[in-house]
Amino acid sequence: MADDTHVLDAPPPGAAADWTIDQHWDAYTQEEHATWDTLFARQAQLLPGRASEAWLKGLDVLKLDRPGIPDFRVLSDRLMALTGWQVVAVPGLVPDDVFFDHMANRRFVAGNFIRRPDQLDYLQEPDVFHDVFGHVPMLADPVFADYLAAYGRGGQRALGLDALRYLSRLYWYTVEFGLVREAGGLRIFGAGIVSSFTESRFALEDDSPDRILLDLERVMRTEYRIDDFQQTYFVVPSFDELLRLTVETDFAPLYERLKQQPDIPVGTVVHGDTVLTRGTQARVRG
Ligand code: PHE
Ligand code: FE
Repeated sequence: MADDTHVLDAPPPGAAADWTIDQHWDAYTQEEHATWDTLFARQAQLLPGRASEAWLKGLDVLKLDRPGIPDFRVLSDRLMALTGWQVVAVPGLVPDDVFFDHMANRRFVAGNFIRRPDQLDYLQEPDVFHDVFGHVPMLADPVFADYLAAYGRGGQRALGLDALRYLSRLYWYTVEFGLVREAGGLRIFGAGIVSSFTESRFALEDDSPDRILLDLERVMRTEYRIDDFQQTYFVVPSFDELLRLTVETDFAPLYERLKQQPDIPVGTVVHGDTVLTRGTQARVRG
């Protein structure tokens, strides 16, 4: 995540000046490829009917259903032809300005390591399964691809405006934990959800969380939790609408207003919300 704290100040030994490293695809062990396959099989059976059309289509056109950890060179070739994006490996979390520079230039930074077999459901830093299975399918969608590149430019701007804490929440509640309204009902597209066995059902089917129509200012005022499932999910009406809204709005005056207002705690409904499902918040109340 862009706002995480355990980042180094300079590229570690072996990394380029832009913090990228070789994926070292040839160095993955059979066990590591098998971990990908296990995670893939678990998610793949859950996601039809739950993941957004765009995500499912991306998985298909990028041929991510082939066994083993994808080779970023092959994946980048396919993505480049579709939307101009590439996937580049980094050694872990990178500084915000580096992260945004890659993103603005349509390079998606991904971890190259994979979680251990005893960590299938829990990990602290994004691994190749989260980054590639979770995020990359959406990058095959031309509209979402434009959104993320625009977000990268927005991040560079937010750094200069001392407003990253607000913009990061937009990333969190869309790119990581977003829901979208489709003809068949709500669908998940956030990478944190689609790459999680338990949250992919919780986000859509559990009575506990609130599901609220996305409003930019509301989202950027809202805190989030990194230690459990979300208590609030925001729903975008469509990716076209998300792109239009974020690109056409000048965030600078918005940031100024946000700095004068209190944050909104998780699991709270406020005046002006369009609540799609009001949650019981039973998961946190116990
Ligand atoms: N329009 C935003 C700004 O003025 C930039 C942005 C675009 C942010 C798309 C997020 C997504 O800063
Ligand atoms: Fe992520």
